[in-house]
Amino acid sequence: MPFDFRRTHRLDALREKDQDREVTLSGWVDRRRDHGGLIFIDLRDRFGVTQLVLDPELIDEAKDLRSEWVISIKGVVKKRKEGMINPKLLTGEIEVAVSALHILSKAKTPPFSICDEEIDTNEELRLKYRFLDIRRGKIQENLVKRHQAMHLIRNFLHDQGFLELTTPILGKSTPEGARDYLVPSRIYPGSFFALPQSPQLFKQLFMVAGMDRYFQIAQCFRDEDLRADRQPEFTQIDVEMSFETEDVLMSIMENMIKALFENQRDVKITLPFKRMSHKEAMDRYGTDKPDLRFEMALVEISDIVKESAFSVFLDALNNEGIVKAIVIKGGSDLSRKSIDDYTSFVGHLGIKGLAWMKFQEGKLTSNIVKFFPESVQKDLIERANIEENDLIFMIADEKSKTNQALDHLRRKIASDRNLIDEERLEFLWVTDFPLFEWSEEEGRLTSVHHPFTSPIDEDLPLLDTDPSSVRSSGYDMVLNGYEIGGGSKRIHNLELQSKIFKLLGISEKEQKSRFGFFLDALSYGAPPHLGMAFGLDRLMMIICKTDSIRDVIAFPKTQKSADLMLDCPSNVGKRQLNELKLSIEN
Ligand code: AMO
Ligand code: AMP
Repeated sequence: MPFDFRRTHRLDALREKDQDREVTLSGWVDRRRDHGGLIFIDLRDRFGVTQLVLDPELIDEAKDLRSEWVISIKGVVKKRKEGMINPKLLTGEIEVAVSALHILSKAKTPPFSICDEEIDTNEELRLKYRFLDIRRGKIQENLVKRHQAMHLIRNFLHDQGFLELTTPILGKSTPEGARDYLVPSRIYPGSFFALPQSPQLFKQLFMVAGMDRYFQIAQCFRDEDLRADRQPEFTQIDVEMSFETEDVLMSIMENMIKALFENQRDVKITLPFKRMSHKEAMDRYGTDKPDLRFEMALVEISDIVKESAFSVFLDALNNEGIVKAIVIKGGSDLSRKSIDDYTSFVGHLGIKGLAWMKFQEGKLTSNIVKFFPESVQKDLIERANIEENDLIFMIADEKSKTNQALDHLRRKIASDRNLIDEERLEFLWVTDFPLFEWSEEEGRLTSVHHPFTSPIDEDLPLLDTDPSSVRSSGYDMVLNGYEIGGGSKRIHNLELQSKIFKLLGISEKEQKSRFGFFLDALSYGAPPHLGMAFGLDRLMMIICKTDSIRDVIAFPKTQKSADLMLDCPSNVGKRQLNELKLSIEN
């Protein structure tokens, strides 16, 4: 008769009250220890570990057992002797005296330790053997949390009347602004499908189709430069609804995020979330996704320092640049070396220098104070609220470069000086984005969100006179400096949509070929609608308190968009290429 390996208990389940119970347990050998004729085995599954004691009669069968072999046993639960209890294990009060043992599969020695997760293992190896990496505790835990999050979100949105609707993966180029992943067609040689950068157009079509409230936990694909919080393939929680206002959507989304975090992190979240205009975010923090766990706001000082004699600042101001500052409370302890390090830090972002002053014994000191008349110093102290022992850093350059550098510097200083409370969750809505931004590369206006985002009503007349000052109805949700979601009210009127395309420099011919189906749909009665999408992976990153998006994705790509386990992208055979009528240039 084959060995019946069906388990009576998970490996976290048995307690003292189970004494004398006959059990069948199955799992992986975590460790094995030999003690004078007795063999002890820690048996592991994803729930826990249970200690087995092998009868001397079984020693022959067990003599080869190694870590990671899969076994099944039958035995009896025994209370551990006084002094042998292991309070670190859920099952630490008991052990199982094994009467029968069956080996289900053997294992090679793994390339890294599974049971000692603390042992530092290089990530490339972990990704190559991801199935073993997942078998270790941490990624397993993250994936369980991810499952729970998806379950909660599905239930939440279902309860709010949203339908989970699936959209195709093989489609046409979508408008999120990244590069597409293309799939060649065999039946139409020379033609391609594009993988979705998001289900944007489909979800709007669902609204035109009258589906009213849609959601999907959707895979999205973008061929773009990766960062710690970006993957070429990622997951969105994608939402769209009809006949509602931004405030209603934002409130539903806030409540969903609140439910998620309260379920998964030991926190109480108050609603509504703060809101900040894009302009205020850029002015105060130099970024559209400010981390509000600490303050250190930026201060513009152009108008003050233009009265100084410091040529670096004056030159920048004469070249349409700005001068902005950041104050480090108690920062006068910074050494010359630290100041030099921060100078080269901003240097990497293309900034030529970092001016500084310390406020000590009631006066400003630095290598450049001599260029600043007393009245200018006084204004500076007042504007930037400089106090005894503070240090002020100042940057003069073109506006967007200055903002970018000070944003990075602000976060770096906060991290260096331990100003960030890791337990804190600072949610924020950023609103009133510009509708367009100028792309130097393309020499035309481009959409800040995507071309289907509606301008705010008040700014509609500006489309004809000053399009670059038009504000959009877009909103982003930001958490601790990460953009966790974004969306907008959509254009549901064909004329307005065509006008926006025109301003984006998309010719009628191109509109027809890329978005003809969509424009067509808008002409058949489109309801007012709006929506949003969250980055599930980014949410999970924050929930799981990791700073790498790869830690919350079962089978992620590397920073260079490769899969080390599958060893792809990879070559394909001549036959496949021939079928697709493709040839590779060398
Ligand atoms: P957006 O492009 O802002 O909006 O994407 C929505 C959210 O998805 C996450 N995200 C990513 N996560 C990981 N890796 C990536 N490469 C990546 N790119 C984006 C971010 C982001 O906030 N169709 C619109 C949504 C809408 O208007 O409804 C869209 O896709 O957390
Ligand atoms: P320099 O005149 O180059 O010797 O610079 C004098 C001081 O101004 C140094 O402390 C530089 O770091 C600083 N500095 C130079 N360029 C800038 C800039 N663009 N913004 C802020 N400070 C600068």
